[in-house]
Amino acid sequence: MVYQVVNDTWFDSEKLFIVKGEEKKQKYLDNYDAYPDVKEAKKPEDRYPVLTFLSSVLCNLKCVYCYADHGNYNHICEQNTFTFENYLKAYEIVMAEYGGIRNICFFGGEPLLDFKEIKKFVVYLNEHVDKAKLPTFSIGSNGTILDDEILDFMEEYHILFGTSLDGSKHFNDKSRIGDGIDSVYDKVMETLQRLDERNITCVIQFTFTQVHLDHYKPGDAKIWMQEFEKLPIKYYELIAATTQGNLCEIDLRNKQNVEKLEKMSSEIAQYSLEALVDGRTTIMSSIFANLIWHLSKKQKTKHCDAGLNITIAPDMRIYPCHTIANDRANSIACEPGFLKEMAQSAVFEKMRTMSRNDYDKCSECIAKNVCNVFCKGMCETCKEPPEERCIMMRVFLKETIKFLMDEYPNHKKEISESVKKIMVEHTVI
Ligand SMILES: C[S@@+](CC[C@H](N)C(=O)[O-])C[C@H]1O[C@@H](n2cnc3c(N)ncnc32)[C@H](O)[C@@H]1O
Ligand code: SF4
Ligand code: SF4
Repeated sequence: MVYQVVNDTWFDSEKLFIVKGEEKKQKYLDNYDAYPDVKEAKKPEDRYPVLTFLSSVLCNLKCVYCYADHGNYNHICEQNTFTFENYLKAYEIVMAEYGGIRNICFFGGEPLLDFKEIKKFVVYLNEHVDKAKLPTFSIGSNGTILDDEILDFMEEYHILFGTSLDGSKHFNDKSRIGDGIDSVYDKVMETLQRLDERNITCVIQFTFTQVHLDHYKPGDAKIWMQEFEKLPIKYYELIAATTQGNLCEIDLRNKQNVEKLEKMSSEIAQYSLEALVDGRTTIMSSIFANLIWHLSKKQKTKHCDAGLNITIAPDMRIYPCHTIANDRANSIACEPGFLKEMAQSAVFEKMRTMSRNDYDKCSECIAKNVCNVFCKGMCETCKEPPEERCIMMRVFLKETIKFLMDEYPNHKKEISESVKKIMVEHTVI
């Protein structure tokens, strides 16, 4: 479908062509078949899976919006953490099924609450697994409990560190809170500095909520991004919280909130687009970076890997994704030969095959081929793609189309070089 983005600029959501002017649009439509089809998305099936361990279903924080129920995923199991033996057993079972694992991610809850078992397991794999078969490792942590032993370990074994920071201190500390911690923001900043001293690669998730919208005034988003650009990180993931019944829930029934969210998204897009011309930084939202890359390559974005990647809880149950690990009915046992049971599981089948094509909302969306906010777990929980994410995605796309129409002809070289650099920096696993 061809969408009018502004007065004289049109975008074909199928083939990803942008045309300017009524005459050119008509010519495009008259010769439609002569224009190349969009390239298909890369197939995740061709790669080994990512194995996520819910290393700890405990957490030292109580973030207001936490979908994981402050880490315990609705008390899915009695065991709170993994023993070394269970890590190894799960690894061996998964390896026997898939023949390889791309990345092992220690997640939670707060995985570093039981760091000793993680360390034993990673050291063991490094000592016993052939280098060519060794997965990469990452930790998804709230960044508040690092000590020298953990830092030494991450440095020695090249662990990618993912943590969370929700914009400036004032915003972050309204929802990311914990007993006995005055400022989670200050703790995470200290952590980032210590990681930087050891050259440990770090990425951040910036979750924005109703709290951001309540206090948002034009110019704020630029300040958040400028602050993030100064951090020793590779990039950040900027994503709307999808949550219900607390002060963080984004209330889209209120029109003012929709307008604010659009303004904020527009400000983020425009500021990030300037970086394509001035080459200032590659530290930006990965959603935005991916959009730019796929538009420039005229390639569809891939679907999320839920159901292809797997998550294992401390009670050795396998889930298609951590976002739906709050219901044991969504799991199968981690036992030799589990792929057979997985093939017969309706939940796994649904997660594997779910796509944007399943939703009318997506079929009619301007971003249908370049969307990267489509989260299978959240679609399952909310029954359709959560609108607070979609609004941002659509604004990002429209702003990018307008920018490319106006700026690309005069800055082809700068933009192409920036896009290449951004994608190198944003590919860490
Ligand atoms: C569940 S936490 C687990 C790892 C670690 N405890 C942390 O906070 O980084 C992973 C990420 O999910 C995000 N998150 C939690 N609840 C969310 C929600 N309702 N919507 C969107 N993201 C959420 C957090 O901000 C965090 O970046
Ligand atoms: S630190 Fe992570 S797991 Fe813990 S409450 Fe916050 S978002 Fe949830
Ligand atoms: S932005 Fe939303 S509606 Fe559009 S394709 Fe993505 S998930 Fe679907």
